[in-house]
Amino acid sequence: MNKQEIILANQQYLFPSVFHYYKEPLVVARAKDQYVWDIDGNQYLDFFGGIVTISVGHCNETVNRKVHEQMDKLQHVSTVFANEPQAALAKRIAGITPGGKLTKSFFTNSGTEANETAFVTARCYTGNHEIVALRHSYHGRSAVAMAATGNSSWRLGGAAPSGFVHAINANCYRCPFGLTYPSCNVRCARDLDEMIRTSTAGRIAGFIAEPIQGVGGFITPPKEYFEIIHGIVKKYGGVFISDEVQTGWGRTGGKWFGIEQWGVEPDIITSAKSLGNGAPVGLTVARPEIADAMKGLTISTFGGNPVTATQAKAVIDYIDEHKLSINAAETGAYLRAKLEEMKAKHPIIGDVRGMGLLQGVELVEDRETKAPAAAATNALLEASRENGLMIGKGGTWGNVIRISPPMNISKSDVDDFALRFETSLKRVTQTQMAGVR
Ligand SMILES: Cc1ncc(COP(=O)(O)O)c(C=O)c1O
Repeated sequence: MNKQEIILANQQYLFPSVFHYYKEPLVVARAKDQYVWDIDGNQYLDFFGGIVTISVGHCNETVNRKVHEQMDKLQHVSTVFANEPQAALAKRIAGITPGGKLTKSFFTNSGTEANETAFVTARCYTGNHEIVALRHSYHGRSAVAMAATGNSSWRLGGAAPSGFVHAINANCYRCPFGLTYPSCNVRCARDLDEMIRTSTAGRIAGFIAEPIQGVGGFITPPKEYFEIIHGIVKKYGGVFISDEVQTGWGRTGGKWFGIEQWGVEPDIITSAKSLGNGAPVGLTVARPEIADAMKGLTISTFGGNPVTATQAKAVIDYIDEHKLSINAAETGAYLRAKLEEMKAKHPIIGDVRGMGLLQGVELVEDRETKAPAAAATNALLEASRENGLMIGKGGTWGNVIRISPPMNISKSDVDDFALRFETSLKRVTQTQMAGVR
């Protein structure tokens, strides 16, 4: 198929909800390491990594060699048969979870399924039903995961399943209480106590949160937030679920999991994306006593698939051997400094936030009113594309640029990014000013 045929077939044969970035969809033909090529042969520097998924570079040779070997040996058995890749992956993960305390895994195909599994596990373990999630969160696209999601744009289909309530998230740039950190005394976290007492049955099955809200626009809480939340969750009998679909595997820098940045030991971790570097794998890993509470029959046809399990373990080994979480911290700090420099020069940048190689740039029309600059964000995506750069978008108002390159990039890639990004930013602001004149 040529480009036009692909675009046309997309329109004719896919649900319209399968939306694409850009006015004209970017038809991707191939990718290698930090680069992507479109069907016309144009090269792009990929600073979004699929959607925060390419952890060790596109088509990583070391990983792919192991996958090809496995593909020729054993491709499928399902969870009802034991196989080495699944067992080896579970053992590897048990060795790196916070405090070494989450030792039992259940594998599925996506982040959505990983969260579904966590909710069922929490309910089986506690005997309670209600789950507290956060406003502005994203937890997946199934009926139940949409009910957990705290953003109306991503909750399709009307009535959502019961059993979810949404607590206040921490967003110091747009404080829900209009307060200022630290004099606020982290009221957003403390509010959870009254929220559980007034909006639930008083005992909860669990609490789920992303250590940094991804789709929400890389919203990064103050350091005390999750510690306070954790205490309240325990007080009301819940398990603490850390949704590490975007923050896992070293991306936040120096730690395997984002929640470790906040000094909290979760009861369950869910993940996907960067764990597979593109392979469809979902992980729910729990403390053994919690995992053991999920008794009875359940099955995942493709869960623990030998090929994807091989890929996931190869990715973890690669991250470990190449110290990529250290690189995420160091190169991430270098990237952050570049973004802060740009913020000092360009008033359209209202906020820069994130950790490691997970950095967000919030665009505003006016720094005083903080009116979200959604149109400029779209224009910046388009301009970046023209300058050979792929970046992501997020935020409840669609005004946050999401930057999440592969974790094995170098500082020279950041220099390349910064040049392309700032050139694009200047183009957008100049066009805006021309419009005003
Ligand atoms: C934090 C978080 N949880 C869950 C999901 C759902 O994962 P998937 O798209 O693999 O189902 C996503 C996807 O973006 C996510 O960002």
